Amino acid sequence: MKFNTKVIHGNQHHDPSTGAVMPPVYQTSTFVQTSPGVPLNEYEYSRAANPTRTALEQALASIENGTRGLAFASGLAATDSVMKLLKPGDEVIAMDDLYGGTYRMFARIYQEYGIKFHFVEMTDYAKFESLINANTKLVWVETPTNPLMKLADIAEIAKITKKHNLLFAVDNTFATPYLQKPLDLGADIVMHSATKYLGGHSDVIAGALIVKDEALGEKLHFAQFATGGTLGPMDSYLVLRGIKTLHLRVQRHCENGAKVAEYLVNHPKVDKVYYPGLENHPNHDIAKKQMIGGFGGMVSFTFKSGAKADAIKMLEKVKVFTLAESLGGVESLANHPALMTHASIPEDKRKEIGITDDLVRLSVGVEDISDLLADLEQAFQ
Ligand SMILES: Cc1ncc(COP(=O)(O)O)c(C=O)c1O
Repeated sequence: MKFNTKVIHGNQHHDPSTGAVMPPVYQTSTFVQTSPGVPLNEYEYSRAANPTRTALEQALASIENGTRGLAFASGLAATDSVMKLLKPGDEVIAMDDLYGGTYRMFARIYQEYGIKFHFVEMTDYAKFESLINANTKLVWVETPTNPLMKLADIAEIAKITKKHNLLFAVDNTFATPYLQKPLDLGADIVMHSATKYLGGHSDVIAGALIVKDEALGEKLHFAQFATGGTLGPMDSYLVLRGIKTLHLRVQRHCENGAKVAEYLVNHPKVDKVYYPGLENHPNHDIAKKQMIGGFGGMVSFTFKSGAKADAIKMLEKVKVFTLAESLGGVESLANHPALMTHASIPEDKRKEIGITDDLVRLSVGVEDISDLLADLEQAFQ
């Protein structure tokens, strides 16, 4: 089955009891048992499993070419269950540009629990490999990264993680499986903030993990079940509905994203433009090899003036773009990473990795491109 068919039919079934084409929202916490410990069928309690969540989880496995999908209450809850595979003394090598909340969880929660993190540039393979020791257990990358659109070459990193028998997790939120399939490229775990492109309509907070290895899937399900970060039935339904149009939306996000990037490159007030589809992007070769069918709808840029005030002035003026956190919905959003999504990263660390005070991040939606460009034009005035 091709991807465009999988998003609609992959591992998806009509409801067996009623024939409903879409799965019902099984808004129930618990399920009847016929004798103590003997449930009527496989469902007992919705923290362990719920039929609407199962429908979503099976669809997630299908679109990422995995065997097991797990749906969480948020992207961070999904990441948290991966971290529960580790114990004090273990070490993690993570990319040096990550969503601020992921960084915050690693640095302020799990570092306190005795897990050591190395945040590194992932295209320097020699340096990356030199950090691996007997305690290293997990490699975590985001590609493209939020907000600087850095890329990691999943296949190259997988060669190293396999050689050293490490778990390799990829946050595939920005690319989506429409553009990039980490499990096919050798990763062990795919993570999503399903709040973003998978849901696609800015109406749900959700997360996902997908794996190929069944034993790993069982361990992650145990962590989820034992600590409780599961996705509710209504939210599962919303993400499943979103997935059905993922291919159509991401295609348009890519078209509009590329046009916005080109517009920004030619704008006299703009300094750097961060978009993997640009030939001068430092990781454009990786993008061409790894992101099949487009480069996504996320674009960041800085101002020639370098002035925070210019970024803020522009963000206050946008009308079609909405000034708001988050990304990946049908509507275009604009964000100031240093003051919003990445405010939890200490200022010196932020500046060191390039999240400057004049950096603006755009989530380019699926509106008419002429309205989007006209909106940016008036906001720059
Ligand atoms: C790349 C990336 N990963 C993870 C997350 C966390 O997801 P959530 O907000 O659904 O917990 C986000 C949220 O913005 C993100 O952009």
